[in-house]
Amino acid sequence: MSNEQPPLVRVGEVAQHEGSLIELRGWVYNVRSSGKLHFLQLRDGSGIIQCVVFKGDVEPELFQQIGELTQESSIVVQGEVRADARSSVGFEVGVQSIEVVDVAQDYPISPKEHGIAFLMEHRHLWLRSTRPNAALRIRSTINDACRQFMSQQGFLLIDAPVLTPAACEGTTTLFSTDYFGDTAYLTQSGQLYMEAAAMAFGKVYCFGPTFRAEKSKTRRHLTEFWMIEPEMAYCDLAQDMVVAEGMVSHVAGRVLSDCRTELDILERDIAPLERVVAGTPFPRLRYDEAIDILRGKGSQIEWGNDLGGEDETLLSEDFDTPVFVHRYPAAIKAFYMKQDPEDERLALCVDMLAPEGYGEIIGGGQREDDLNKLEGRLEVHGLPRDAFEWYLDLRKYGSVPHAGFGMGIERVVAWLCGLKHVREAIPFPRTLQRIYP
Ligand code: 4AD
Ligand code: MG
Repeated sequence: MSNEQPPLVRVGEVAQHEGSLIELRGWVYNVRSSGKLHFLQLRDGSGIIQCVVFKGDVEPELFQQIGELTQESSIVVQGEVRADARSSVGFEVGVQSIEVVDVAQDYPISPKEHGIAFLMEHRHLWLRSTRPNAALRIRSTINDACRQFMSQQGFLLIDAPVLTPAACEGTTTLFSTDYFGDTAYLTQSGQLYMEAAAMAFGKVYCFGPTFRAEKSKTRRHLTEFWMIEPEMAYCDLAQDMVVAEGMVSHVAGRVLSDCRTELDILERDIAPLERVVAGTPFPRLRYDEAIDILRGKGSQIEWGNDLGGEDETLLSEDFDTPVFVHRYPAAIKAFYMKQDPEDERLALCVDMLAPEGYGEIIGGGQREDDLNKLEGRLEVHGLPRDAFEWYLDLRKYGSVPHAGFGMGIERVVAWLCGLKHVREAIPFPRTLQRIYP
């Protein structure tokens, strides 16, 4: 062996080093032995590769130690990259030396099946397993694609506060906290602040954690989730929808082009995702039409009701792409929604429903820009005017039509990855029943 230090390489990059000596740093996934050989699966967070240790190549004591290495023991390996047709990565490593950094205690997660409760209780370790690892890689790509789309479209990133004095999305899901003797709330949405920022910068977005004290245990609800919220001055509902479908199609396209390995690991059928990317413009349904369609399919829903999860699934099953539902009754929507001038019972709002039963991924619309109407809405919703004085100011000093939307990242991750529950779409989920680990 030469004295030269071989280059440090990640498993995902070994193809570029065929025939040369490299160093890998990672953890033991599994060891199998057959007499003179140990077959050690090493994972380093970018992939798993087989490292073959030949008895004659290392000290006898080390050879024995390697054979006894426990799952998740940390190791540094030096060896030569060799093509191997049987390997999932196409290569293996002929080991020349191994350093054992730490011998792991009995690892609680074995390749056998564990229940979801057990895995969630060990989420801090479960992240190392192949499926969660793939889903969170895709989440990272989705986040990146959202930001990329926003900046390509000329939006400015404006970070919204997390501690707020008032409710944005209704008072029933507020988390409150003591703020030096006053009550403050964890933000439900950065929207109101984005409206201020849109009047200052034109096109803005925020992207951060938002909080809802949701008492629901559905597979779509978290108490802490991430939302990207664009807001545009001089924008109406129709233009808002164009931006929303552009973002979703861009994000799905990036996942298809950058995350094939991860989609494979998750056994995600990619044909439906390809149809989404090819499918803009997405269909637009008025709430009225949606109700008719649902009743035609046997739903008991009545005009005036909000769509439940099952209605959303029922409605979207007719479409290959996400579908917009716009102009819901104002009575079931937030205080800031603009009234439809053509039918005062309706709000100029829109939801985007994902296909394959994933439900609402985007909510948004045009904002009430008329001072008097907005004052009336605050009253109807029983919201304290003093906490919203600053928000009313935006309608006093050069009010303009404006619109935006919020896209819930975990819902999008769950959909694009084909996960059953949003709790697997975020590294450390917070739900009604869970704030550990
Ligand atoms: O429809 P929502 O409540 O809209 C708003 O918060 C607006 N202020 C956004 C805006 O116009 N700037 O939430 C937007 C999206 C939903 O479509 C959904 O994807 C996600 O946020 N979401 C949740 N995701 C996980 N768990 C929850 N409890 C969620 N509540 C909303
Ligand atoms: Mg909504």
